[in-house]
Amino acid sequence: MLCVRAPGRVNLIGEHTDYNDGYVLPVAISLETRVHARLREDMRCIVYSDTLDEQAEFDLAQLPPPDALPAGFIRYVVGVAWALQQHTGRTLRGVDATICSDLPLGAGLSSSAALEAAFAVLWDTLDALQLDRLILAQLCQRAEQMYAGVQCGLMDQAASLLSEAGHALFLDTRTLFTQSVALPPDWAIVVADTGKPRALAESEYNLRRAQCEQAVQGLQTVLGEEVIALRDVSPEQAALYLPLLQEPARRRARHVIGENARVLEFLTALRHADAKRVRNHMLASHASLRDDYEVSCAELDAMVEACLRAGAIGARMTGAGFGGACIALVEKTHVEKFLTEAERLYRARTTYEPRFWACEAVGGASACL
Ligand code: GLA
Repeated sequence: MLCVRAPGRVNLIGEHTDYNDGYVLPVAISLETRVHARLREDMRCIVYSDTLDEQAEFDLAQLPPPDALPAGFIRYVVGVAWALQQHTGRTLRGVDATICSDLPLGAGLSSSAALEAAFAVLWDTLDALQLDRLILAQLCQRAEQMYAGVQCGLMDQAASLLSEAGHALFLDTRTLFTQSVALPPDWAIVVADTGKPRALAESEYNLRRAQCEQAVQGLQTVLGEEVIALRDVSPEQAALYLPLLQEPARRRARHVIGENARVLEFLTALRHADAKRVRNHMLASHASLRDDYEVSCAELDAMVEACLRAGAIGARMTGAGFGGACIALVEKTHVEKFLTEAERLYRARTTYEPRFWACEAVGGASACL
């Protein structure tokens, strides 16, 4: 019997930058998915989700294509098997597996990436594949793109597989340079779920990505072919040339270019535990996601406001948006009071059921006891 745990994530800053060759700064959190598995003699996989009380099975020698599968957890599992088999040229060994999780589904905390990461580490261990963690993250990303139909970036899978306890993970999604960045020891990471389920997340996400590509094409006509992605456009060039683009591509590009610059500034502020600058960058990020990228919603805005009024150092929506959760940084000594006050303020504004977790920053997916 093997057990693997894989964490969800929040992103401190760098939202919707990872498919624009940009920078991200996620933290793996102590809300995790666990998979208990036993090897079988054949190539079948029987997978039971304890969280959903659902079971599904498939054959590794004849993997079903995405459209032959119902929407739901099994797509991610088959997707990971497909990506691993395609990369290694091997057929994996069958398992009887049970999934359980304290990571809420659909709250924008990357429950899908955690599930992918858990199965990737499971097969990597059982089949002695010895794949590098970054490769595993890329294979999980491919699984999500092919089997869930979301043209996602690398952030969530990298956070779940490469994070170090007590640290955020800086990732440059172009060079794939990663660096663990120590979190100020007195600051707590609070996840504040609005209770508003994400709506239209997949189609709107893919649309945002297409709009960024349109912006790149428009900018190439003035800046040349060396602009491969929005990452290649400086804030100074943006001020000069973005007015030439049509809406909404202009505002989408303005968010991404500004957000990339903010990640680097935020990193310096975080290293100095400079609460004021951290707060300003988080607020600027949220405002840009709300106004220019248009992926926030009334509940996310209300939650950010509740967190700030309850005394957070900084707060912003985290993940793809359209509902889901916020991240708040809070002085550890103030957490209890903060949780009560933020909940009271949020409830006064909406009818959705909020949930709050003060989380640890944990290490990436691993085998567990
Ligand atoms: C989702 C995607 C990530 C990233 C975020 C937005 O979580 O899976 O790749 O694009 O949205 O920052």
